[in-house]
Amino acid sequence: MRQPGDEQSVVTSSQERRRELGQFLTPNPVADFMASLFDARPQELDLLDAGAGDGALTEALVRRLCASRLKPRRIFVTAFELDETKIELLHATLRRCQQECDSASIRFSATVLNEDFIAAAVPIVRKELFAPKQPRFNAAIVNPPYRKIRSDSSARLLLRSAGIETGNLYAGFVALITKLLADRGELVAITPRSFCNGPYFKPFRADLLETMSLRRLHVFESRSAAFSCDNVLQENIIVHAVKGVPKPEQVIISSSSGASGGSVTEREVAYREVVSPADAEQFIHLAEGEAQDSARAVMGRLSASLPELGLSVSTGRVVDFRAKEFLRQQPGRDTAPLIYPCHFNGGFVHWPKEKARKPNAIVSNEQTRELLVPAGVYVLVKRFTAKEERKRIVACIYDSHQVRASLVGFENHLNYFHINGHGLAMNLAKGLAAFLNSTVVDVYFRQFNGHTQVNATDLRSLNYPAKAELEKLGRRIADPGMPQEEIDALVGEELF
Ligand SMILES: C[S@@+](CC[C@H](N)C(=O)[O-])C[C@H]1O[C@@H](n2cnc3c(N)ncnc32)[C@H](O)[C@@H]1O
Repeated sequence: MRQPGDEQSVVTSSQERRRELGQFLTPNPVADFMASLFDARPQELDLLDAGAGDGALTEALVRRLCASRLKPRRIFVTAFELDETKIELLHATLRRCQQECDSASIRFSATVLNEDFIAAAVPIVRKELFAPKQPRFNAAIVNPPYRKIRSDSSARLLLRSAGIETGNLYAGFVALITKLLADRGELVAITPRSFCNGPYFKPFRADLLETMSLRRLHVFESRSAAFSCDNVLQENIIVHAVKGVPKPEQVIISSSSGASGGSVTEREVAYREVVSPADAEQFIHLAEGEAQDSARAVMGRLSASLPELGLSVSTGRVVDFRAKEFLRQQPGRDTAPLIYPCHFNGGFVHWPKEKARKPNAIVSNEQTRELLVPAGVYVLVKRFTAKEERKRIVACIYDSHQVRASLVGFENHLNYFHINGHGLAMNLAKGLAAFLNSTVVDVYFRQFNGHTQVNATDLRSLNYPAKAELEKLGRRIADPGMPQEEIDALVGEELF
């Protein structure tokens, strides 16, 4: 029978093994910051460190407690670590913790489990007959492994058996940890920001927000700052949350560069502004400053949903590597245009593109018919953009009048707005593209989307201006790719 972690058996180099294990060690300044977030000062601390690595997180917390005025009487640590090559270092760290505690007259003990945390925790959470008694952790500090888990993997099936549905190991770890915490137990976790929005993490988000009460969300200004030595290009977030207590009125939203000694900017934001009670998707919004507050207020005044506008947004149907045999570098008599982000040229698609690295065309026949949409005017939005880019939402118009083709294929790296699978009137398309390209939408979007994807669900979750307003705006737009100040001025005049 396959066991969780089987995927780790074929490793060729230590770097590859680290990637397999989702092993990115927390730098000391970040570990210290995480340790500083614990509020409660229990006399007896039962600490869980799942995926402990070298034990940097536990050590940071133990150090802090030993130096604090309100010292605990005792600290018990349970550290899980799957990688046997880390165990000696972990023991050494825990011996240092023991010495610190001895000097501070705190009783200390630690259990190191060189086991798969998921396999160990699931039976406890499921309260299986022969499972060990549920430990009552009142604190957990964690930087869980980040790795996708396939839908047929043993880790995924185990998690599912405990009622946890997720496609990434980190969310599985955090979900299990929240179940192992006692009421009023505190969690401080550093994870990718990807769970804050999107459909894949909806069950995890819903569970987290129901079980735990958010106290603080901390983000880093640059994607690479927190884990600079590990080349991690994830946006990360630190969550501090408490189990089984009422939601607070306010949540602290803070940010820092992630560099050692860097300053931390923080502000209090109403809980309902972080997770809107009206939002069935329960997106988590991070309004880091006044610009974000005002973008949120402006977007909150818009009232139309996409269905109310008669519009839909879908992901481009042509997945190029699955349709390889039908792709053509240049258009021919039997092809339809194939549109990629590289065809964006200002506010309009420019096609075909000479010397494009991507194919310009797709064969149009019975086999590809399902992948194509009828000629018309469509608003396209790039699906992959990063935090460092000037804009996260980049919209552009495809106009078949400029291309003269009866069908078109939109590649999967694009989202396209349509009306029941057909195009939009030009003024509506121009107004919509200009609205999407405005700074207000971009600033608002960045508050809840902390990864590199702009999913159709994200675009569906936005509030939009009324159709007549978009059309009126559209009549004033020559090119939705016009300079940003001009778009913002027109959008401001017409919509806000
Ligand atoms: C992101 S690293 C963090 C390490 C350490 N907590 C830190 O902050 O520096 C995640 C750790 O989890 C370990 N790990 C991966 N899969 C695991 C599993 N299924 N059970 C226990 N540990 C696991 C990895 O070997 C790695 O050391």
